[in-house]
Amino acid sequence: MTHPQTTSAATLSQDELKTLVGQAALQYVLPGEIIGVGTGSTVNKFIDALASMKGQIQGAVSSSVVSTERLQALGITVFDCNDVLELAVYIDGADEINPQGHMVKGGGAALTREKIVAAQSRQFVCIADESKLVQTLGKFPLPVEVIPMAVHRIQRQFAAMGAQAVVRLKNGVPLVTDNGQQILDVTGLQIADPLAFEAQVSQWPGVVTVGVFAFQKAQVCLLGSATGVRTMTF
Ligand code: A5P
Repeated sequence: MTHPQTTSAATLSQDELKTLVGQAALQYVLPGEIIGVGTGSTVNKFIDALASMKGQIQGAVSSSVVSTERLQALGITVFDCNDVLELAVYIDGADEINPQGHMVKGGGAALTREKIVAAQSRQFVCIADESKLVQTLGKFPLPVEVIPMAVHRIQRQFAAMGAQAVVRLKNGVPLVTDNGQQILDVTGLQIADPLAFEAQVSQWPGVVTVGVFAFQKAQVCLLGSATGVRTMTF
């Protein structure tokens, strides 16, 4: 990791920090490119800022229905992932990021499409406020997208690790993802070795995607703090 570079700013609210890093991410948008776009409240700020460059880019590949709709509403063309060979950059938020650029993602239930688009991109630029920076991943409940018939089995596997996996609900019933599956939120974890953890859990039958992004880690993090945007590189 290189030393963070800091640009100055007055004390800002969390929402203003999200706006700041969303705008700062425009420096990674190259004219003529198709941009990978993630999901979440921080990415929404980036999408809003990206509208100012819509005439300069070909368009975007999106990681969720929500982001697709926001991009299209601003007049940005959204391409099918299968129609694009490689993306120069993927810009997305995170629920946690550690000093190595490993992340926990999926608070917005879009982790599977996020991991697919990240894997298709040469560079992952994470945009986040400083509350997301942690030494060890696992305090934020880890999202895991699962096939419904495997829910109880996977819950038992996490229990054997000393963790608790709870089905995410929406309006009192299990949330259904963009892919027609369910989300388990797992607490009680301390993920000391994100690469090994991601490799292990990804192999469990019925797991679609685990929300640890270690193989698809960030190369850059634009971290919004009370003193401005810190650029961390990994
Ligand atoms: C979406 O599924 C997540 O991976 C988001 O990237 C994450 O939850 C960050 O969201 P916010 O920017 O809203 O904090």
